[in-house]
Amino acid sequence: MNQEQKTLLTGIKPTGTPHVGNFLGAIKPAIKMVHDYEKSFLFIADYHALNTVQDGARLHDLSLSIAATWLACGLDPSKTVLYRQSAVPEVFELETILNAITPKGWMNKAHAYKAALDVNEAAGRDRDDGVSMGLYTYPILMAADILLYSADIVPVGKDQQQHVEIARDIAQRFNHTFNSESLVLPGAFIQEEVESVPGVDGRKMSKSYDNVIPLFATNDEWKKVINRIPTDSSSVEEPKDLSNCVIFDIFKSLAPVDTTEALKARLEAGGIGWGEVKAQLLEVLESEFGQYRDRYNEFMANPAEIERILAEGAAQAKAVARQKLDEVRTVIGA
Ligand code: ADP
Ligand code: TRP
Repeated sequence: MNQEQKTLLTGIKPTGTPHVGNFLGAIKPAIKMVHDYEKSFLFIADYHALNTVQDGARLHDLSLSIAATWLACGLDPSKTVLYRQSAVPEVFELETILNAITPKGWMNKAHAYKAALDVNEAAGRDRDDGVSMGLYTYPILMAADILLYSADIVPVGKDQQQHVEIARDIAQRFNHTFNSESLVLPGAFIQEEVESVPGVDGRKMSKSYDNVIPLFATNDEWKKVINRIPTDSSSVEEPKDLSNCVIFDIFKSLAPVDTTEALKARLEAGGIGWGEVKAQLLEVLESEFGQYRDRYNEFMANPAEIERILAEGAAQAKAVARQKLDEVRTVIGA
Protein backbone atom coordinates (compact mmCIF):
# COMPACT_ATOMS: atom_id res chain seq x y z
CA MET A 1 0.00 0.00 0.00
CA ASN A 2 1.28 3.47 -0.85
CA GLN A 3 1.75 5.88 1.99
CA GLU A 4 -0.89 8.06 0.25
CA GLN A 5 -3.49 5.34 0.87
CA LYS A 6 -2.66 4.89 4.51
CA THR A 7 -4.39 6.21 7.60
CA LEU A 8 -2.68 8.33 10.23
CA LEU A 9 -4.15 8.74 13.72
CA THR A 10 -3.03 10.30 16.96
CA GLY A 11 -4.56 11.34 20.26
CA ILE A 12 -3.73 14.12 22.70
CA LYS A 13 -4.56 13.97 26.36
CA PRO A 14 -6.16 17.23 27.57
CA THR A 15 -4.16 17.49 30.78
CA GLY A 16 -2.57 20.93 30.41
CA THR A 17 -1.98 23.83 28.07
CA PRO A 18 0.79 23.29 25.54
CA HIS A 19 4.32 24.69 25.60
CA VAL A 20 6.72 25.61 22.81
CA GLY A 21 8.42 22.18 23.16
CA ASN A 22 5.11 20.44 22.36
CA PHE A 23 4.65 22.74 19.38
CA LEU A 24 8.09 22.12 17.85
CA GLY A 25 8.30 18.43 18.81
CA ALA A 26 4.76 17.26 18.09
CA ILE A 27 2.15 19.74 16.83
CA LYS A 28 4.06 21.31 13.92
CA PRO A 29 5.46 18.02 12.54
CA ALA A 30 2.07 16.26 12.83
CA ILE A 31 0.26 19.04 10.97
CA LYS A 32 2.85 18.78 8.18
CA MET A 33 2.67 14.99 8.13
CA VAL A 34 -1.09 14.66 7.56
CA HIS A 35 -0.65 15.83 3.97
CA ASP A 36 1.17 12.59 3.13
CA TYR A 37 -1.78 10.40 4.14
CA GLU A 38 -5.09 9.64 2.53
CA LYS A 39 -6.97 9.81 5.80
CA SER A 40 -6.05 11.36 9.13
CA PHE A 41 -7.70 11.37 12.54
CA LEU A 42 -6.77 13.54 15.46
CA PHE A 43 -8.69 13.23 18.67
CA ILE A 44 -8.82 14.62 22.17
CA ALA A 45 -8.32 11.69 24.52
CA ASP A 46 -10.62 13.00 27.26
CA TYR A 47 -11.32 9.57 28.81
CA HIS A 48 -7.59 8.96 29.09
CA ALA A 49 -7.25 12.34 30.83
CA LEU A 50 -10.05 11.35 33.21
CA ASN A 51 -7.51 9.25 35.10
CA THR A 52 -5.93 12.47 36.36
CA VAL A 53 -8.36 15.34 35.64
CA GLN A 54 -11.37 14.66 37.84
CA ASP A 55 -13.14 17.99 37.66
CA GLY A 56 -15.84 18.31 35.00
CA ALA A 57 -15.46 22.01 34.24
CA ARG A 58 -11.69 21.68 33.99
CA LEU A 59 -11.79 18.64 31.69
CA HIS A 60 -14.27 20.45 29.46
CA ASP A 61 -12.10 23.60 29.28
CA LEU A 62 -8.91 21.64 28.65
CA SER A 63 -10.57 19.69 25.83
CA LEU A 64 -11.68 22.91 24.13
CA SER A 65 -8.23 24.37 24.65
CA ILE A 66 -6.52 21.40 22.96
CA ALA A 67 -8.91 21.64 20.00
CA ALA A 68 -8.27 25.41 19.74
CA THR A 69 -4.52 24.79 19.90
CA TRP A 70 -4.47 22.43 16.94
CA LEU A 71 -6.85 24.60 14.91
CA ALA A 72 -4.81 27.73 15.67
CA CYS A 73 -1.60 25.96 14.69
CA GLY A 74 -2.96 25.14 11.25
CA LEU A 75 -4.84 21.85 11.47
CA ASP A 76 -7.35 21.82 8.60
CA PRO A 77 -10.59 20.17 9.79
CA SER A 78 -11.70 19.57 6.20
CA LYS A 79 -8.64 17.33 5.76
CA THR A 80 -8.22 15.84 9.23
CA VAL A 81 -11.07 14.44 11.31
CA LEU A 82 -10.91 16.26 14.66
CA TYR A 83 -13.09 14.87 17.47
CA ARG A 84 -13.45 14.10 21.15
CA GLN A 85 -12.77 10.47 22.04
CA SER A 86 -15.88 10.42 24.24
CA ALA A 87 -18.11 11.58 21.35
CA VAL A 88 -17.69 8.17 19.69
CA PRO A 89 -18.67 5.68 22.42
CA GLU A 90 -18.11 2.75 20.02
CA VAL A 91 -14.52 2.88 21.25
CA PHE A 92 -15.56 1.78 24.73
CA GLU A 93 -17.41 -1.25 23.36
CA LEU A 94 -14.35 -2.23 21.36
CA GLU A 95 -12.27 -1.80 24.53
CA THR A 96 -14.51 -4.26 26.38
CA ILE A 97 -14.10 -6.78 23.57
CA LEU A 98 -10.32 -6.32 23.58
CA ASN A 99 -10.26 -6.74 27.39
CA ALA A 100 -11.35 -10.34 26.88
CA ILE A 101 -8.38 -11.30 24.75
CA THR A 102 -5.63 -9.17 26.35
CA PRO A 103 -3.40 -11.03 28.82
CA LYS A 104 -3.21 -9.31 32.20
CA GLY A 105 0.55 -9.82 32.14
CA TRP A 106 0.86 -7.33 29.26
CA MET A 107 -0.65 -4.63 31.44
CA ASN A 108 1.72 -5.49 34.31
CA LYS A 109 4.60 -4.63 31.97
CA ALA A 110 3.21 -1.31 30.70
CA HIS A 111 5.52 1.62 31.50
CA ALA A 112 2.96 4.02 33.00
CA TYR A 113 1.68 1.39 35.43
CA LYS A 114 5.20 0.20 36.31
CA ALA A 115 6.32 3.78 36.92
CA ALA A 116 3.45 4.26 39.41
CA LEU A 117 4.47 1.05 41.23
CA ASP A 118 8.10 2.19 41.40
CA VAL A 119 7.09 5.53 42.94
CA ASN A 120 4.97 3.72 45.54
CA GLU A 121 7.71 1.26 46.38
CA ALA A 122 10.29 4.02 46.77
CA ALA A 123 7.91 5.86 49.12
CA GLY A 124 7.23 2.69 51.15
CA ARG A 125 3.53 2.72 50.26
CA ASP A 126 1.31 -0.15 49.13
CA ARG A 127 2.41 -0.87 45.54
CA ASP A 128 -1.03 -0.22 44.04
CA ASP A 129 -1.66 2.94 46.05
CA GLY A 130 -3.45 5.52 43.88
CA VAL A 131 -3.50 3.21 40.84
CA SER A 132 -6.95 3.22 39.24
CA MET A 133 -8.22 0.54 36.87
CA GLY A 134 -8.21 3.31 34.24
CA LEU A 135 -4.46 3.67 34.59
CA TYR A 136 -3.97 -0.10 34.64
CA THR A 137 -5.96 -0.73 31.45
CA TYR A 138 -4.86 2.53 29.77
CA PRO A 139 -3.10 0.68 26.92
CA ILE A 140 -6.27 -1.29 26.05
CA LEU A 141 -8.35 1.86 25.58
CA MET A 142 -5.48 3.28 23.55
CA ALA A 143 -5.46 0.11 21.41
CA ALA A 144 -9.22 0.50 20.85
CA ASP A 145 -8.64 4.17 19.81
CA ILE A 146 -6.17 3.05 17.17
CA LEU A 147 -7.77 -0.19 15.94
CA LEU A 148 -11.30 1.20 15.59
CA TYR A 149 -10.09 3.52 12.81
CA SER A 150 -7.73 1.00 11.15
CA ALA A 151 -4.79 3.34 11.65
CA ASP A 152 -1.55 2.31 9.94
CA ILE A 153 0.67 5.01 11.40
CA VAL A 154 0.51 6.54 14.87
CA PRO A 155 2.84 9.51 15.44
CA VAL A 156 3.71 9.69 19.14
CA GLY A 157 6.46 10.74 21.53
CA LYS A 158 8.99 8.09 22.56
CA ASP A 159 7.16 7.48 25.85
CA GLN A 160 4.11 6.19 23.94
CA GLN A 161 5.96 3.76 21.69
CA GLN A 162 5.32 0.80 23.97
CA HIS A 163 1.59 1.53 24.00
CA VAL A 164 1.45 1.44 20.20
CA GLU A 165 3.38 -1.86 20.26
CA ILE A 166 0.80 -3.26 22.71
CA ALA A 167 -1.98 -2.13 20.33
CA ARG A 168 -0.26 -4.02 17.54
CA ASP A 169 0.09 -7.16 19.71
CA ILE A 170 -3.59 -6.95 20.70
CA ALA A 171 -4.65 -6.64 17.05
CA GLN A 172 -2.54 -9.63 16.12
CA ARG A 173 -3.95 -11.69 18.96
CA PHE A 174 -7.52 -10.75 18.07
CA ASN A 175 -7.03 -11.68 14.42
CA HIS A 176 -5.39 -14.97 15.39
CA THR A 177 -8.02 -15.86 18.02
CA PHE A 178 -10.95 -15.27 15.67
CA ASN A 179 -9.15 -16.36 12.53
CA SER A 180 -9.96 -12.98 10.97
CA GLU A 181 -8.20 -10.06 9.35
CA SER A 182 -10.50 -7.46 10.84
CA LEU A 183 -7.92 -5.42 12.72
CA VAL A 184 -5.14 -3.54 10.93
CA LEU A 185 -1.73 -3.77 12.60
CA PRO A 186 -0.55 -0.24 13.47
CA GLY A 187 3.01 1.07 13.72
CA ALA A 188 4.37 3.95 15.78
CA PHE A 189 6.06 6.88 14.09
CA ILE A 190 8.63 8.40 16.39
CA GLN A 191 10.18 11.68 15.37
CA GLU A 192 13.77 10.82 16.31
CA GLU A 193 15.37 13.81 14.63
CA VAL A 194 13.40 16.43 16.55
CA GLU A 195 15.71 17.95 19.08
CA SER A 196 14.50 18.20 22.61
CA VAL A 197 13.70 21.84 23.45
CA PRO A 198 15.29 22.78 26.80
CA GLY A 199 13.18 24.35 29.54
CA VAL A 200 14.04 27.43 31.62
CA ASP A 201 16.06 25.31 34.07
CA GLY A 202 18.08 23.62 31.29
CA ARG A 203 16.38 20.23 31.61
CA LYS A 204 14.07 18.99 28.82
CA MET A 205 11.06 21.29 28.67
CA SER A 206 8.17 19.39 30.27
CA LYS A 207 5.01 20.24 32.15
CA SER A 208 6.18 17.72 34.77
CA TYR A 209 9.25 19.88 35.56
CA ASP A 210 7.49 23.25 35.85
CA ASN A 211 10.04 24.72 33.43
CA VAL A 212 7.93 25.44 30.36
CA ILE A 213 7.56 28.43 28.08
CA PRO A 214 3.82 28.37 27.33
CA LEU A 215 2.86 28.52 23.66
CA PHE A 216 0.04 30.95 24.38
CA ALA A 217 0.94 33.71 26.83
CA THR A 218 0.92 37.49 26.94
CA ASN A 219 4.23 39.29 26.46
CA ASP A 220 4.30 40.05 30.17
CA GLU A 221 3.85 36.38 31.03
CA TRP A 222 6.58 35.41 28.56
CA LYS A 223 8.85 38.09 30.09
CA LYS A 224 8.36 36.63 33.57
CA VAL A 225 9.23 33.14 32.34
CA ILE A 226 12.32 34.40 30.51
CA ASN A 227 13.49 36.10 33.69
CA ARG A 228 13.64 32.69 35.38
CA ILE A 229 16.39 31.55 32.99
CA PRO A 230 19.70 31.52 34.89
CA THR A 231 22.66 33.46 33.44
CA ASP A 232 26.25 33.87 34.68
CA SER A 233 27.59 37.08 36.18
CA SER A 234 29.86 38.09 33.29
CA SER A 235 29.88 41.79 32.38
CA VAL A 236 28.46 43.22 29.18
CA GLU A 237 31.94 43.56 27.62
CA GLU A 238 33.13 40.01 28.30
CA PRO A 239 32.88 37.35 25.57
CA LYS A 240 30.30 34.76 26.70
CA ASP A 241 30.92 31.05 27.22
CA LEU A 242 28.25 29.27 25.22
CA SER A 243 28.94 25.75 26.47
CA ASN A 244 26.12 24.82 28.86
CA CYS A 245 24.48 28.21 28.36
CA VAL A 246 20.76 27.61 29.00
CA ILE A 247 19.48 30.87 27.51
CA PHE A 248 21.48 30.42 24.31
CA ASP A 249 20.37 26.77 24.01
CA ILE A 250 16.72 27.82 24.32
CA PHE A 251 17.24 30.65 21.82
CA LYS A 252 18.87 28.25 19.37
CA SER A 253 15.96 25.80 19.47
CA LEU A 254 13.34 28.53 18.89
CA ALA A 255 14.92 31.10 16.55
CA PRO A 256 15.63 30.87 12.81
CA VAL A 257 19.21 29.74 12.06
CA ASP A 258 20.44 33.13 10.77
CA THR A 259 19.10 34.95 13.86
CA THR A 260 20.88 32.41 16.07
CA GLU A 261 24.15 32.76 14.13
CA ALA A 262 24.02 36.56 14.42
CA LEU A 263 23.47 36.35 18.18
CA LYS A 264 26.19 33.74 18.60
CA ALA A 265 28.76 35.96 16.85
CA ARG A 266 27.90 38.91 19.11
CA LEU A 267 27.99 36.81 22.29
CA GLU A 268 31.36 35.30 21.41
CA ALA A 269 32.79 38.72 20.59
CA GLY A 270 31.57 40.30 23.83
CA GLY A 271 29.72 43.61 24.14
CA ILE A 272 26.22 42.26 24.67
CA GLY A 273 24.64 41.67 28.07
CA TRP A 274 22.14 39.03 29.17
CA GLY A 275 19.39 41.65 29.44
CA GLU A 276 19.59 42.26 25.71
CA VAL A 277 19.63 38.52 25.01
CA LYS A 278 16.44 38.17 27.07
CA ALA A 279 14.82 40.99 25.10
CA GLN A 280 15.81 39.26 21.85
CA LEU A 281 14.34 35.99 23.09
CA LEU A 282 11.03 37.75 23.75
CA GLU A 283 11.12 39.10 20.19
CA VAL A 284 11.68 35.59 18.86
CA LEU A 285 8.73 34.25 20.86
CA GLU A 286 6.53 37.01 19.47
CA SER A 287 7.62 36.57 15.87
CA GLU A 288 7.59 32.74 15.90
CA PHE A 289 4.51 32.09 18.02
CA GLY A 290 2.54 35.36 18.23
CA GLN A 291 0.39 34.52 15.20
CA TYR A 292 -0.68 31.18 16.72
CA ARG A 293 -1.45 32.86 20.02
CA ASP A 294 -3.72 35.40 18.35
CA ARG A 295 -5.64 32.70 16.47
CA TYR A 296 -5.87 30.58 19.62
CA ASN A 297 -7.40 33.50 21.51
CA GLU A 298 -9.94 34.02 18.72
CA PHE A 299 -11.02 30.36 18.89
CA MET A 300 -11.22 30.38 22.68
CA ALA A 301 -13.44 33.45 22.50
CA ASN A 302 -15.83 31.44 20.30
CA PRO A 303 -16.30 27.99 21.91
CA ALA A 304 -19.47 27.36 19.85
CA GLU A 305 -17.34 27.34 16.70
CA ILE A 306 -14.93 24.82 18.27
CA GLU A 307 -17.88 22.62 19.30
CA ARG A 308 -19.29 22.84 15.77
CA ILE A 309 -16.01 21.61 14.28
CA LEU A 310 -15.74 18.83 16.89
CA ALA A 311 -19.33 17.70 16.23
CA GLU A 312 -18.68 17.52 12.50
CA GLY A 313 -15.53 15.50 13.16
CA ALA A 314 -17.38 13.18 15.55
CA ALA A 315 -20.02 12.44 12.90
CA GLN A 316 -17.34 11.47 10.39
CA ALA A 317 -15.40 9.44 12.96
CA LYS A 318 -18.56 7.66 14.06
CA ALA A 319 -19.32 6.48 10.53
CA VAL A 320 -15.92 4.79 10.31
CA ALA A 321 -16.09 3.46 13.87
CA ARG A 322 -19.58 2.00 13.51
CA GLN A 323 -18.61 0.01 10.47
CA LYS A 324 -15.51 -1.48 12.10
CA LEU A 325 -17.35 -2.27 15.33
CA ASP A 326 -20.16 -4.04 13.43
CA GLU A 327 -17.55 -6.11 11.62
CA VAL A 328 -15.85 -7.02 14.91
CA ARG A 329 -19.21 -7.87 16.53
CA THR A 330 -20.01 -10.23 13.70
CA VAL A 331 -16.60 -11.91 13.99
CA ILE A 332 -16.97 -12.54 17.75
CA GLY A 333 -20.55 -13.75 17.41
CA ALA A 334 -22.36 -10.88 19.12
P1 ADP B 1 5.27 16.99 28.65
O1 ADP B 1 6.67 16.43 28.84
O2 ADP B 1 5.25 18.45 28.79
O3 ADP B 1 4.26 16.29 29.54
P2 ADP B 1 4.11 15.37 26.63
O4 ADP B 1 4.76 14.15 27.19
O5 ADP B 1 2.63 15.56 26.80
O6 ADP B 1 4.88 16.66 27.17
O7 ADP B 1 4.49 15.44 25.09
C1 ADP B 1 3.59 15.65 24.03
C2 ADP B 1 4.40 15.69 22.75
O8 ADP B 1 5.30 16.81 22.74
C3 ADP B 1 5.27 14.45 22.53
O9 ADP B 1 5.20 14.05 21.18
C4 ADP B 1 6.68 14.90 22.87
O10 ADP B 1 7.65 14.21 22.13
C5 ADP B 1 6.64 16.38 22.52
N1 ADP B 1 7.52 17.12 23.44
C6 ADP B 1 7.30 17.29 24.77
N2 ADP B 1 8.30 18.03 25.31
C7 ADP B 1 9.18 18.33 24.31
C8 ADP B 1 10.41 19.04 24.25
N3 ADP B 1 10.93 19.62 25.32
N4 ADP B 1 11.05 19.14 23.06
C9 ADP B 1 10.51 18.56 21.94
N5 ADP B 1 9.35 17.87 21.93
C10 ADP B 1 8.67 17.74 23.10
N1 TRP C 1 -1.60 8.06 25.52
C1 TRP C 1 -1.33 9.19 24.67
C2 TRP C 1 -0.47 10.20 25.44
O1 TRP C 1 -0.44 10.17 26.64
C3 TRP C 1 -2.61 9.81 24.18
C4 TRP C 1 -3.41 8.83 23.37
C5 TRP C 1 -4.56 8.22 23.74
C6 TRP C 1 -3.06 8.36 22.09
N2 TRP C 1 -4.98 7.39 22.76
C7 TRP C 1 -4.11 7.44 21.72
C8 TRP C 1 -2.01 8.61 21.20
C9 TRP C 1 -4.08 6.78 20.49
C10 TRP C 1 -2.01 7.96 19.98
C11 TRP C 1 -3.03 7.03 19.63
O2 TRP C 1 0.16 11.05 24.84
